[in-house]
Amino acid sequence: MLLSLIADHYIPGSTILDIGSGSGLVEEQLFRRLPDALVVGVDYSPAMIAMAEKRLAGKDKQFVTVQHDLCDIQSAKLPERDYQLAFSVQTIHNLPPESQRKVMSWVHKVLSKGGFFFFLDRIAVPGADSFSCYQSVWKRQERVYSSSIDEGRSFPEHQQYLDEQGDSPLTLQENLKIIAEAGFQASALDVRGNRALIACVKIIAAG
Ligand SMILES: C[S@@+](CC[C@H](N)C(=O)[O-])C[C@H]1O[C@@H](n2cnc3c(N)ncnc32)[C@H](O)[C@@H]1O
Repeated sequence: MLLSLIADHYIPGSTILDIGSGSGLVEEQLFRRLPDALVVGVDYSPAMIAMAEKRLAGKDKQFVTVQHDLCDIQSAKLPERDYQLAFSVQTIHNLPPESQRKVMSWVHKVLSKGGFFFFLDRIAVPGADSFSCYQSVWKRQERVYSSSIDEGRSFPEHQQYLDEQGDSPLTLQENLKIIAEAGFQASALDVRGNRALIACVKIIAAG
């Protein structure tokens, strides 16, 4: 779904920004859909950046990575481009909540007017009373996709799991709030258990 959104909204000649580009897995698929796309990734991990360079060998004129800590995003220096589209997959929940908020504002600033930010990430289970609902979703996903999802058997275990991973996901409502406060119009396009794909549009002001 993310790749379809990117392909449908990409404007040739503009640049796509990937927040937390990691080992270039998403770009590998993206270049199959959009062979001429230009992408700038931001990530702080030299190991991940090296993996991405290896995976995307031959695309070095189209894909560049800016090595930078997202916790200090305001000081990031991006190549000067027309950023019409941004996306982030499974990254922003790794940051402390205040940094998540700053990243949203920064993406809004970097994007051109009318630009889109597609945000696909983990969201928080809002409280112990809802936990059984998420367990049902995970159990169903295990049955349907023959995969194993182990995020704790109780809410306290789940929270411990997040602590151990160093993750601080926000709830869907908190995410929608910080996205709106950054100036975006937000649409939760697909929410499944504790994963959400949110389209954020930089509104073109009337007049
Ligand atoms: C789970 S990986 C996702 C990578 C990629 N988006 C994907 O879906 O394959 C999370 C990425 O976020 C990066 N990351 C986490 N915290 C970061 C930070 N504070 N600054 C920059 N990158 C960070 C990690 O290095 C890693 O590459």
